[in-house]
Amino acid sequence: MTGEALTIERLALEQLAALLLERAGLKVTPDGYAGLRLALQARMPATGLDDAAEYVRRLRQLAGEHELRALLPLVTVGKTEFFRDSRQFAAFENEIFPELLKHARREARPVRAWSAGCATGEEPYSIAMVGLDRGALPNELDCWATDLNPVAVQNAARGRFAIRRLLGVSEPRLARFFNLVDGFYEVTPQLREMVRFDGHNLAAPIWPQVRPQSMDLIFCRNVIIYFDQPTILAVMDRFYDSLRPGGWLFLGYSESLFRLPTRFEMVEVGGVFIYRRPVRGGVTQVLTTVVRGAGEPAPAPPPAQATTAASLPAPPAVARPPERATPKALPLVVGLQLPRSTASMPSPALSKPRPPGTGTPVERLEQIVADIERGDFPRALRLSHALAEDAPDDLAARITLGNVHALMGNIAEAREAYQAALQREPLSVEARLYLGIAALQGLEPEIARQEFTRALFLEPTLALGHYLLAQVHERRGDAEAARRSYRNAINLRKGPPHALLGHFPDLPTSNEAIAQAAQYRLAALSER
Ligand SMILES: C[S@@+](CC[C@H](N)C(=O)[O-])C[C@H]1O[C@@H](n2cnc3c(N)ncnc32)[C@H](O)[C@@H]1O
Repeated sequence: MTGEALTIERLALEQLAALLLERAGLKVTPDGYAGLRLALQARMPATGLDDAAEYVRRLRQLAGEHELRALLPLVTVGKTEFFRDSRQFAAFENEIFPELLKHARREARPVRAWSAGCATGEEPYSIAMVGLDRGALPNELDCWATDLNPVAVQNAARGRFAIRRLLGVSEPRLARFFNLVDGFYEVTPQLREMVRFDGHNLAAPIWPQVRPQSMDLIFCRNVIIYFDQPTILAVMDRFYDSLRPGGWLFLGYSESLFRLPTRFEMVEVGGVFIYRRPVRGGVTQVLTTVVRGAGEPAPAPPPAQATTAASLPAPPAVARPPERATPKALPLVVGLQLPRSTASMPSPALSKPRPPGTGTPVERLEQIVADIERGDFPRALRLSHALAEDAPDDLAARITLGNVHALMGNIAEAREAYQAALQREPLSVEARLYLGIAALQGLEPEIARQEFTRALFLEPTLALGHYLLAQVHERRGDAEAARRSYRNAINLRKGPPHALLGHFPDLPTSNEAIAQAAQYRLAALSER
């Protein structure tokens, strides 16, 4: 049975759309049903089912969660753009590519790049444009682009884009690399020929098409977010083997959720961290992979020896300023006051004073956090608005804007900011979590329940999500469900740590603190 041979009834598509909304908060309108159909055609053969209604029924069951995760990336396949994450591309263009080209020329070979999970091709074409702009001849850059979804690969190879998808492409590049054909922008034959497209499943246990130590660069961004930890580790291992010593691995900036033992080292290039296969040998190191936005500070370099998440030291405490206005939103969460996590936020104590609204996004977020900590919400709001406008791609900026609104009690505006974040990253766990918190503030426990459930579908090991969900259950008078969720939070005491984008005072992310608070609540519930 081939995917193309399947008949898929509209009713099954409607049911699937409803399921995606319920579980992941993804809104698929009838305009997007064609995309759902393609995703089903790609996934159903792998499950041995040829009846779409039966497939959707399976997805609904508890055991269908695994399959739903495999389906998700296919239905969000549209989520890509040219020059996505401009800071990574700047580092690639200005520092990494010129060096690689020099090196490859000395060895009389092309630079070899791989866009793994290329979706509809925006990423590999962006890589090729950078190459040509930095003076590579067409035969000096070999770009291989692969994806699990055959339809995405087909579209990518066609290289035809509607104008709205070219927002990230500068005017000079548009003129140099695209031709207007029948109202669409088509990549020039020169650019097209520089990219080879193929179907490829990253989760497959062996990759016969990839020669060991053959790649200079791998871009695998916004793909591993859908994988479980063993798959991520296996994929990282194979990436490592595919790269030449000194080769680079670019991951998406919001997907590095865990501290994973891998052989990669982390290198700061032009203000962003990029992973690299060490030039020589390579001891096992920990990829200090935290959810981090463009606006957040660089993490400390990883330790030289393998460390497990459980043995990591607690984050440093930041002293609370003595006088701090009480945000309207607090107390939000019963029993959760201290200690706060500082993993995701810049330390205001360390930041130098600078004129408001100036500096890099990192520095500007530091100013905002310092204002929040001082209780100067009006100024934090002004600065957050300005930052969100100047850096529309920056998820941390959008989420922080929402948080400042939430702290001031502007629930509608907070929601708007989180929704804007979701438009950029439909699977943002933080946006879902904070939407839930805003709903709690707005005394809408049913919406809060929905949002926390979605956040937990996207990230089942988010202890804070379980804790908050338990609080919602308590407010709704469902003690049994509350106990279950508190137990989930407690069981994650030694689970992977999650640092959240955006700063919200008094929300702990240390699993230990959350587990302890959950234990107290559980005891209180049992006494009733
Ligand atoms: C959100 S898109 C990311 C596109 C691009 N890398 C970017 O960052 O803009 C994720 C892509 O990963 C692909 N993908 C998901 N699972 C995959 C797998 N196991 N093997 C290869 N590609 C996969 C999906 O089909 C989808 O096109």
